[in-house]
Amino acid sequence: MRSQICRSASRAARYLLSAPRQSSHVFAEGRAAAAAAAVSLRGKVPYLTSYGRTDSGNASIGWISGALALPAAAYMLQEQEAHAAEMERTFIAIKPDGVQRGLIAEIISRFERKGFKLVAIKIVVPSKGFAQKHYHDLKERPFFNGLCDFLSSGPVIAMVWEGEGVIKYGRKLIGATDPQKSEPGTIRGDLAVVVGRNIIHGSDGPETAKDEINLWFKPEELVNYTNNAEKWVYGEN
Ligand code: RTP
Ligand code: MG
Repeated sequence: MRSQICRSASRAARYLLSAPRQSSHVFAEGRAAAAAAAVSLRGKVPYLTSYGRTDSGNASIGWISGALALPAAAYMLQEQEAHAAEMERTFIAIKPDGVQRGLIAEIISRFERKGFKLVAIKIVVPSKGFAQKHYHDLKERPFFNGLCDFLSSGPVIAMVWEGEGVIKYGRKLIGATDPQKSEPGTIRGDLAVVVGRNIIHGSDGPETAKDEINLWFKPEELVNYTNNAEKWVYGEN
């Protein structure tokens, strides 16, 4: 319920903010303030609900809205954080074989076209120790050493993707671990042949996702932003 309310508020703010830009800075701030205020005060302060339609020349409304800019900005930051908190995130990595085979754009485009949002990305060559940390839950398996050698053998594209159901659905886009068993249409099904070179990693659950994001990224490397396509991906309400 809370997440539904947060999402509705977020969409309302995004919708209002997507109105054509005013040239004046004051009006831009005013419009942001009014948008945020309209979300929280709709029905309580009548003139704010009509702001942003046709009367942009009304100085008193501009002044009042401008005065609301600071609290409104704080409100919007809070609201954006609530929105980000509600949205699921997963860690996805293109392994060295995917990078060397020139599949970076192909893999990214599958997540992007689905409607998921990229919130962090970097290229890194992990050390073997780092690879061992990443795959620590497999340390008893016979292939663990070879797997960690391989992950640390070259550049990896580390990413965080955000969206409703992205952890589970990300795994569907990726396909079964063994490409011989992955369905056609999945990344591994279409682009890989053997289990030891299956080109991509994806978190397998909410806890793993959180741990892996924390392992690969600092908090400030994750970017909170509104993608203009979101209202088309999720609808307005
Ligand atoms: P990942 O963690 O890389 O997304 O793969 P996954 O969840 O589908 O599979 P997982 O069981 O976590 O295995 C991690 C990676 O180890 C390699 N593997 N080799 N030789 C083998 O039998 C074998 N089994 C797994 C794969 O590269 C797999 O992605
Ligand atoms: Mg795994």
